[in-house]
Amino acid sequence: MIEILDPTQLARARDTGALVGDILQTLKGRAEAGTNLLDIDRWTKEMIDRAGAESCYVDYAPSFGRGPFGHYICTGVNDAVLHGLPHDYTLADGDLLTLDLAVAKRGVAADAAISFTVGGTEPPENTAMIGATERALAAGIAAAGPGARIGDISHAIGTVLREAGYPINTQFGGHGIGSTMHQDPHVPNTGRPGRGPKLRPGLLLALEPWIMADTAELVTDADGWTLRSATGCRTAHSEHTIAITDDGAEILTLPEQARR
Ligand code: MF3
Ligand code: CO
Repeated sequence: MIEILDPTQLARARDTGALVGDILQTLKGRAEAGTNLLDIDRWTKEMIDRAGAESCYVDYAPSFGRGPFGHYICTGVNDAVLHGLPHDYTLADGDLLTLDLAVAKRGVAADAAISFTVGGTEPPENTAMIGATERALAAGIAAAGPGARIGDISHAIGTVLREAGYPINTQFGGHGIGSTMHQDPHVPNTGRPGRGPKLRPGLLLALEPWIMADTAELVTDADGWTLRSATGCRTAHSEHTIAITDDGAEILTLPEQARR
């Protein structure tokens, strides 16, 4: 079922989205060489609690993971791209770090992810991969609006990723979101324009282009959660939650300085 939010829920979605954007921005500012992934998880829990929000992850036990996630944020380093389970790892200069966070507040969820380089020197490969997922996300958002279809978003995302030279995996993609984190419709990261469900005002979508440098194949880590590139190559992931409105698409998970 595709959930359509009423204006009260949409106002709450803006609030939750801003919280997610702000937490990610704060974490990006704090993550440096020497930071442990478990510190990031703890800081995330503290910020969620302080905001009176709830984690969408800690008790989450979907078919694609082993048991409840048990943590508050996904942390993926270099070859780890999706569902990265925080563990005892200390970040190093040049690591490509992906943080993916979903929380709910007053019954409405929001989900976003950022990838960035730890420390001052960014390997060119990181720049290229992060740039490609960010441009693909922007293209997906630009293709969204009332009357457009899911396939238009998928096509826009896939075109950018392919033109940047990256293979596309279709096992995981974007999704509807609202009173819960994962809802219909699925939003593949490649597709045909004019196909799929039509977008209506009040629909919330999480768009999430992600890539691996030289493969489309994922392997599951021994932790039962973390998905890594099969070849060990680097990966990147960018995600925003957007709301379809009467006149377009509104990004809900921007950090504070980008909202004004
Ligand atoms: N937020 C992720 C997504 O973008 C899902 C993480 S599921 C978890 O859809 F269980 F790993 F937390
Ligand atoms: Co998501």
